[in-house]
Amino acid sequence: MVGVRIGSETHQGLTLDESLQELELLAETADIEVLGSVTQNLSAPNSRTFIGKGKLEELKLLVEELDAGMVLFDEELSPRHQRELEKEFDRNIKILDRTALILDIFAQHANTREGMLQVELAQYKYRLPRLTRAWTHLARQAGGASGRSGSVGGVGLRGPGEMQLEVDRREINKKIDKLEDELEKVRQHRNRHRQQRRKTSIPVVALVGYTNAGKSTLLNALTGADIFVADKLFATLDPTTRQLELPTSETILLTDTVGFIQKLPTDLVAAFRATLEEIAEADLLLHVIDGSHENAEEQRLTVLETLEEIGAGEIPILTVYNKIDLLDEESLKELKGSTDSLALFVSALEKSGFELLTEAISAGIIQGFQNVVILLPYNEGRLVSMFHEKGHVDQLDHEETGVRITGSLPVQLLSLFEDYLE
Ligand code: GTP
Repeated sequence: MVGVRIGSETHQGLTLDESLQELELLAETADIEVLGSVTQNLSAPNSRTFIGKGKLEELKLLVEELDAGMVLFDEELSPRHQRELEKEFDRNIKILDRTALILDIFAQHANTREGMLQVELAQYKYRLPRLTRAWTHLARQAGGASGRSGSVGGVGLRGPGEMQLEVDRREINKKIDKLEDELEKVRQHRNRHRQQRRKTSIPVVALVGYTNAGKSTLLNALTGADIFVADKLFATLDPTTRQLELPTSETILLTDTVGFIQKLPTDLVAAFRATLEEIAEADLLLHVIDGSHENAEEQRLTVLETLEEIGAGEIPILTVYNKIDLLDEESLKELKGSTDSLALFVSALEKSGFELLTEAISAGIIQGFQNVVILLPYNEGRLVSMFHEKGHVDQLDHEETGVRITGSLPVQLLSLFEDYLE
């Protein structure tokens, strides 16, 4: 693995080491064994080989010493970097970046027709500008997603179609057009379904969260659904929707979605429109966070950023810290102290904390109001007026730093007040 820190840039709050640890987990998910890593601090990437000349020599030595078959970059390589780096290494050493790896994992895990088409399309789009000798390694089986069963255990990648280096780019463009047409048809079909669902006006609650946070486990535990759960990244690539009856006897639809990850390539986010559309149309989001993860806070922020990016930033969110069975009393207390008062704490594995969770879902969906205490600074007069207009004010105190209001707010507006919740 090659990790590079450019300038003072951090990887959305992760240190270089943490980002590499995540890359290693991604690699494991794709059955690639990590043998070693090198890192470098650069003010800017080398225009030709991404890393500097000396570091490149060090890397070559390490590859030889470890008898590695692949070099995996934590950053996305430009087509030029890819080409130049391939020239530097022996023909049988593959040069790969994070994006290609994520695409490979997606290819392995897509289950529905739509998911498969999306991955295939994303793979073609990613590879088109990178038509180099790697192409022949990348594409081995015909028929895209059928390649899933032909996993090539860490050395190759499951690719769309039996492409050869000499295949004309025009051919690939044609293939891309065809895939886009096919996808459009699948989507229209899907939209018809969704419209039907909307007619029945059952509220939709979407589970969102960082990959491996426990969304599928939570959905299973809450609904008794049998969804593939794996301690691997991106086990879920297709939205899976189940019905859930709340204690208040209202029925909602609970839908699982693809896990987020830092540096998820924007192209890929776009490629997974299907699952993301489910999110953007939900009435309420359950943001599931692995409370036992040391980077829980960074992961939370990455998810919130991605939600903004896909236009779901305005949907009310219930924050759910999962895996609390892994925390001792002290750490749980600390976690509770560091989060806002509306957060919930559950263990999907032990099915604990579900009563409060389902109550909160009910409150979010059905009653539509949530009790809050907030301290609004004096320059947020607009929000104070909004609270009076749209919410119920039980008590209002003028304090030195702002107005403290105790009362309740429509859940749809909670995100606007999020920064000021106590
Ligand atoms: P993606 O599909 O990657 O987005 O993952 P996900 O968020 O759906 O996670 P998933 O439900 O697949 O769970 C990931 C791992 O965490 C599995 O090994 C689960 O068994 C484990 N897990 C989930 N919930 C809990 C929990 O409450 N406690 C513990 N200890 N482990 C859990």
